[in-house]
Amino acid sequence: MSTSAENRGQFGSKLGFILSAAGSAVGLGNIWKFPGKAYFCGGGAFLIIYLIIVALVGTTVMMAEFTVGRKTHKNAVGAMRELNAKWSWVGGLGVLTGFIILCYYCQVGGWAMKYIVAYIVDVKTIWADPTAYFLNNLLGADGTFPLQGAVIFPFIFLFLTAYIISHGTAGIEKMSKLLMPLLFIMLIALMIRSCTLPGADDGLKYMLNVDFSTINGVAILTALGQAFFSLSLGMGVMMTYASYLSNEDNLISNTAIVCTLDTLVALFAGFMIIPAVFATGIAPGMGGGFGFATLAGVFMAIPGGQLIGTVFYFLLFFAAITSSTSILEGTIAFLVEEKGFERKKALLGASIVIFIIGVMYTLSQAYMNLKGIWISGDGISYPIFGDFLEYLTDRLLLPLGAFFTTVFVGWIWGTDNSVEEATSYGKFKFTLAPVYKFIVKILDPIAIGAIIIAGLVF
Ligand code: PFF
Repeated sequence: MSTSAENRGQFGSKLGFILSAAGSAVGLGNIWKFPGKAYFCGGGAFLIIYLIIVALVGTTVMMAEFTVGRKTHKNAVGAMRELNAKWSWVGGLGVLTGFIILCYYCQVGGWAMKYIVAYIVDVKTIWADPTAYFLNNLLGADGTFPLQGAVIFPFIFLFLTAYIISHGTAGIEKMSKLLMPLLFIMLIALMIRSCTLPGADDGLKYMLNVDFSTINGVAILTALGQAFFSLSLGMGVMMTYASYLSNEDNLISNTAIVCTLDTLVALFAGFMIIPAVFATGIAPGMGGGFGFATLAGVFMAIPGGQLIGTVFYFLLFFAAITSSTSILEGTIAFLVEEKGFERKKALLGASIVIFIIGVMYTLSQAYMNLKGIWISGDGISYPIFGDFLEYLTDRLLLPLGAFFTTVFVGWIWGTDNSVEEATSYGKFKFTLAPVYKFIVKILDPIAIGAIIIAGLVF
């Protein structure tokens, strides 16, 4: 390893890496996005499609990213460049995608913080009208500037993210070791509470009832985009994390553990939220409001709802910050190693831009439309900028990143090299290596490619 590689920092332990990578994967995607998608895309049948996609596509793309990162010990762009200079742009695409995701991610992370405070000090105001509270206080739908929802709390969230990252891998590892176990305990407690509510059975039945007639192209596309987002794939973040691993670590078991943990959390979140929604008879709304407006109605209707709600938003916040740090790390590793920026300066510059675009994300959902700053069809029904960012990343950029990563590993760098790296050059056994090779070379590019095209057509 070169001196500069040694100076980059390394995860201190196997557990530290696993919890950090799982911390990156487990995030708003699992808790804020997944339950709503599972509900609207057919319940049980969606879960099965999702599980198949994670098992076949998710694990192999993650393994591909891990091997490229660990082989080179470089950020996403540097890693691709080292293996084949013509492909460094794929790393660049990933960094760009991460940057865009972070703009809205920090906003929603800030919303979770705002709700923690509001649940503790002012829950009555939320419960007086949960939907109006969400729309007005976070998005400014009544025409008053949502200072806390769009500016103050997202700023604090981004500041914390940048602060943790300023301490490098040590900061990430310390945070993940503390927050991830807490997150699991809170999630399991909330899930048990939700599933034991009177009337929760209907929700359980809905989640367990497999009816494939509810599955269409959009549901499959949603499941694939969700899987990439949830597993932090397609943007070089897992590549960057694996670049901080020692050559002795087992990438095969790490892949299996991280994918399993992430999927378990998504399922637990589904089984925490959907039964409660059914038990309380709240009609769920789609989109960002699901985790805020809909759930406020649910917490309001159950005994101990204030405490449960507070715990839930802590959970959301913990999940969000262990992911936002990973995305920012991907960007910063690139700026420092490829562009020669000093770490603190890179953090400051990137954070300012992310913050400004992020504020526009929140404001565009209602406030700008109302004030005529943003032109849209009819007021708040087209959160165009916000929708555009999510559409661009989840449906297009993440799948594209994953597509090119698998083409690169499958056909350019080569699956033999990838398998050698995965086994630490023969140290670990990889019984499924032939299956991995086939999927990365053939199945992944075809499946992801077809779905990207379908996504553009639908
Ligand atoms: N996996 C995170 C989530 O589920 O919320 C989001 C994410 C993190 C996406 C890191 C992409 C990424 F590189």
